[in-house]
Amino acid sequence: MNVSHPHPADATHTGLGELPAGRPPQTEFRDGLDYPRLGQVTFRRGTLTDNQQALFNEHWPRLGTVLHDEVIDLDEWFGRSNHPTIVEIGSGTGTSTAAMAPLEANTNVIAVELYKPGLAKLLGSVVRGGIDNVRMIRGDGIEVLARMFAPNTLDGVRIFFPDPWPKARHHKRRIIQSGPLRLIASRLKPGGVLHVATDHADYAEWIDELVHVEDLLEYKGWPWPEAPLLTDRQVITKFEGKGLDKDHVIHEYLWRRTEAENPDTVVKP
Ligand SMILES: C[S@@+](CC[C@H](N)C(=O)[O-])C[C@H]1O[C@@H](n2cnc3c(N)ncnc32)[C@H](O)[C@@H]1O
Repeated sequence: MNVSHPHPADATHTGLGELPAGRPPQTEFRDGLDYPRLGQVTFRRGTLTDNQQALFNEHWPRLGTVLHDEVIDLDEWFGRSNHPTIVEIGSGTGTSTAAMAPLEANTNVIAVELYKPGLAKLLGSVVRGGIDNVRMIRGDGIEVLARMFAPNTLDGVRIFFPDPWPKARHHKRRIIQSGPLRLIASRLKPGGVLHVATDHADYAEWIDELVHVEDLLEYKGWPWPEAPLLTDRQVITKFEGKGLDKDHVIHEYLWRRTEAENPDTVVKP
């Protein structure tokens, strides 16, 4: 497979970087854990400016792809062998991604996001900044992890400011749940790191209750100065910039993937 060329899913009439129409694919995880289900969620649409579209047309085929059912050949996509790889889920407009990537040039960074204008913005930062260690995948991070990464292949997973879904009836849409934690653990190498940040007090309480739920993830708390990857997000959020008030404290979480083998229950779409 060569994902540095347009993937068939990109070449259809739906257009470059578009997800196929219809209900998104949802892996059935038969492990009894809790997974967010995105089928009923409507995602923001957005159009690109003319400049963004031109940039997208030129660079997306090389630097981006959409969710598809093949494990990525990382060495081929990044054009170099055996470099550490970090996946960021929900990269938004890529502010942290583009700020961190130059400081970890030895690392392959893959930003996963559903929102195309966000990816277009990151693409612009990457191209203008001459950043060559970032690639992008448009799709649901759960499906991307399950379908496009083999077990024991990632050195890090980042989830910065995931959607908080504040209403109780929407909590089941939160990405930090027992199922995604298992899936992330399964894709991390032993010694790999999961880094989560939230500024939402109620979501922080929710995560606090889950920090020990996954046996394959040893909770390290925050900060963890010896962490084997960059943990400084490099970005002063508007809340941090204004000074922390009680409702907008940033909570950060780090876990280390244990040495234990992946259990058989994990996770084939
Ligand atoms: C609150 S924003 C945070 C964006 C960015 N990480 C930041 O710190 O500015 C959450 C982002 O996650 C994306 N998102 C939500 N669910 C996702 C999923 N299942 N897979 C990929 N991205 C997702 C949303 O589109 C949104 O851009």
